[in-house]
Amino acid sequence: MKKNIPLKIVKKIENLLIKKSKRLHDPIFIGNEIKYLKNCIQSGFVSSVGNYVNKLEKKLCQVTGSKYSVATSSGTAALHLALHYLNIGRNDEVLLPSFTYVATGNSIKYCNATPNFLDIEKNNLGICPIKLQNYLKKIAIKRGNFTINKITKKKIKALIVVHVYGFPSKIDKIKKICKNYNIILIEDAAEAVGSKFKDQHVGTFGEIGILSFNGNKTITTGSGGAILCKTGKVYNSLKHLSTQAKLKKEFDHFHDKVGFNYRMNNLSAAVGFAQLENLSKIINAKRKNFKKYFHLLKDHSDYKIHKEPSATKSNYWLIVLKCKNTKLKKKLIKEFKARAIGIRFTWRPLHYLKIFNNCPRDNLKNSEDIFKRTLTLPSSPIISIKS
Ligand SMILES: Cc1ncc(COP(=O)(O)O)c(C=O)c1O
Repeated sequence: MKKNIPLKIVKKIENLLIKKSKRLHDPIFIGNEIKYLKNCIQSGFVSSVGNYVNKLEKKLCQVTGSKYSVATSSGTAALHLALHYLNIGRNDEVLLPSFTYVATGNSIKYCNATPNFLDIEKNNLGICPIKLQNYLKKIAIKRGNFTINKITKKKIKALIVVHVYGFPSKIDKIKKICKNYNIILIEDAAEAVGSKFKDQHVGTFGEIGILSFNGNKTITTGSGGAILCKTGKVYNSLKHLSTQAKLKKEFDHFHDKVGFNYRMNNLSAAVGFAQLENLSKIINAKRKNFKKYFHLLKDHSDYKIHKEPSATKSNYWLIVLKCKNTKLKKKLIKEFKARAIGIRFTWRPLHYLKIFNNCPRDNLKNSEDIFKRTLTLPSSPIISIKS
């Protein structure tokens, strides 16, 4: 009788998760979260004016090596604020991978700019620098200090790299191409706190980088995010814009721009600060998760756990399982569902969504192929942590 390999695999995974977490990603609170929250409540400082917001920003600079960081109410808010600050608007295009979470594309739409989709490399799931170079050769023309899309006549103003699932993209090569075309490099490192490319934290290569601390991320503030930036001038402008552009005037409510209510609150920051104190521990656990899954599937050539590319360190936010084809993926899903194991499809490429399907794009074969045959597996730190 032919062996039911998908069932065998799912049973092995179920055993790994038993008494841990079968859900996709649970947060873990093993530090000073309650103590710091109590401090906040006792002090009365629960809004965005509070000590922990500044503490979190400082700690983030320590952890990432970024010169400055601005704490925000979400990763989406951080992206929107970054694009707004960079003056991205109606006549601009922004390059981004199609294989990403919807927030990357939405932030471009918030600014009335046009997303222009790029393909990924199969072995690191990030923007393929070779395809990017060829695409720009085909569509771009340099005019003075700018690059124009010959077909749409819009300015190609920025490119957003996404370090998807925590896997660093080939940021050095992409940065070189952007420099050559005078395209602003932004990094969406929402999923990648703690991930490094050649020992440098992702999110610190571009002009601006962002992180997310949503409840499902490696570390969390409930909802929250941050912008990483390089100069005091950018930091001050972003902080100002994130707090309704309010100027300090005694007794008065004075605003010199249309600002946003995007600053993180003190309660969230208190939790985030405590989480950051345990970042290494949490990432070690998540890297152990990878080893466990990898070992578990080592004898199954039709199923592979996606591994960090060379010269990078991934936080393994979500473990990605690659099946040889869609049929095998479907068989696995059936068994996962029967056991209530919290798997998900990987990100549906954005060009498949109606809200984006009119946008300009390169050929997106790799994104489409990866989406068809991959899944994300339960990846909570609790699976491997010793608390
Ligand atoms: C790639 C990417 N960008 C942006 C975001 C937005 O972050 P947030 O959920 O904190 O708004 C996410 C969050 O899931 C993400 O995965």
